[in-house]
Amino acid sequence: MKNYYITTPIYYVNDKPHIGHAYTTILADTLSRFRQLINQKTFFLTGLDEHGLKVQQAAEKNGANPQDHCDAMAPAFLELWKKLDIQYSDFIRTTEARHVKIVQNILTEVYNNGDIYKDKYEGWYSISEERFITEKELDSGLFRDVKKIEEENYFFKMSKYQKQLIKKIEDDEEFIQPSTRKNEVLGFLKQNLSDLCISRPKTRLEWGIEIPFDKDYVTYVWFDALINYISSPKYSEDKECFEENWPADVHLIGKDILTTHSVYWPTMLMSLNLPLPKTIFAHGWWLTDEEKMSKSLGNVISPLMLIDEFGVDSVRYYLMSEMVLGLVIPQCDHDKNDLSNQLSKIDIEKKLNTFKMDGLIQNIMDFVRSINVYMEKNQPWKLVKEDKELAGIVLYNAAESLRIATLMLSPVIPKKSQEILDTLGSNNSSLEWGGLKSGEKIGSITPIFPRIVK
Ligand code: MSP
Repeated sequence: MKNYYITTPIYYVNDKPHIGHAYTTILADTLSRFRQLINQKTFFLTGLDEHGLKVQQAAEKNGANPQDHCDAMAPAFLELWKKLDIQYSDFIRTTEARHVKIVQNILTEVYNNGDIYKDKYEGWYSISEERFITEKELDSGLFRDVKKIEEENYFFKMSKYQKQLIKKIEDDEEFIQPSTRKNEVLGFLKQNLSDLCISRPKTRLEWGIEIPFDKDYVTYVWFDALINYISSPKYSEDKECFEENWPADVHLIGKDILTTHSVYWPTMLMSLNLPLPKTIFAHGWWLTDEEKMSKSLGNVISPLMLIDEFGVDSVRYYLMSEMVLGLVIPQCDHDKNDLSNQLSKIDIEKKLNTFKMDGLIQNIMDFVRSINVYMEKNQPWKLVKEDKELAGIVLYNAAESLRIATLMLSPVIPKKSQEILDTLGSNNSSLEWGGLKSGEKIGSITPIFPRIVK
């Protein structure tokens, strides 16, 4: 059976991870755990983007060779993911031999099918963006570190697939989400698409994967990096593994890398004759003082500091419930007397299919609040004096509701959920009503999220 395949971007190792990287990774982890909760098998990929000018320059600044620099940076990501309870299935680094080999296989394949050619190129290059920009983009003044470059390079025939791509985006509602991003890409595709320069002469940049048919060149970092999504499941090496995973169900990305993922990547896949990912989902940015976080702006929030101060699950919960993904969500309606009926209205799969993580958490928390309302209304502490049996039923309903709500929150706050389930004496992981055994002793209860006293 095919896995539900989720990816995060692979992060540049030019700097330590910040809260933005942590956000996308927690989002992928939470999605993966939610999918498992509804009995799907998942494959969750994350990793590091280790080639290119940015990394080479960061290494030079530290006086290290690029590979040593990458090896020194990787543990910061791995340790953070461990602290954040991230259960990835694979962690890929683009300098690993398994990735390099598949990138070279693909370059050869695309070259042999006639979609790569050599040409002279003169244009404006943005070092901070690692790509050639158009005259129009240059005029916008939005690009830093721009210089004019003239050289011979290899090009990928991206323009050949423009029509096919536009049709795909227009016809398939699920492909680029949310719809504002879809419109953004369609807007970009109104102009004629140029071919993509996919090589860098070694005289200018050494730190990359060598082009298999010309050893004077290395591969452009984005052509290399995007391939991680199929090199991890072993494209061209292991058919069974590949088909068990590809196509990805969702590429989670920030809106900053929308063009590379929804234009470069699908056209590369078209050239390889491979199915496209089912969804590319672009979320917004976490901002500090209205600005995007970045090392050069010096306004980066460290996830480690937040974890130390508030605890892992608080950070996970905050990030998952505060970022609105897509549109605002209607509240589920309440039948406050019937908890199990209300529970059945929480449609996890539907919310997951549209990536409404905040909406899903809101539904679950509304339900948790309604357990409180139910208790206030039925007052089992008074009822017990008049009708012991009925008081018992009320308490059971409340405890069972709490068990299921806790399970539903476990993808977001795995550790705290386990504490609550242990207190309830339950190790039943079914979301079906009736999983809590009557007569179990309840453990002693301490506040799950104690207030922070300043
Ligand atoms: N290496 C490329 C991606 C290659 S994927 C084939 C890259 N790396 S990055 O380190 O710059 O990470 C970018 C991603 O980090 C964003 O797309 C987003 O997922 C996440 N975030 C970085 N800053 C962010 C915020 N301030 N807010 C939310 N997420 C952000 O681009």
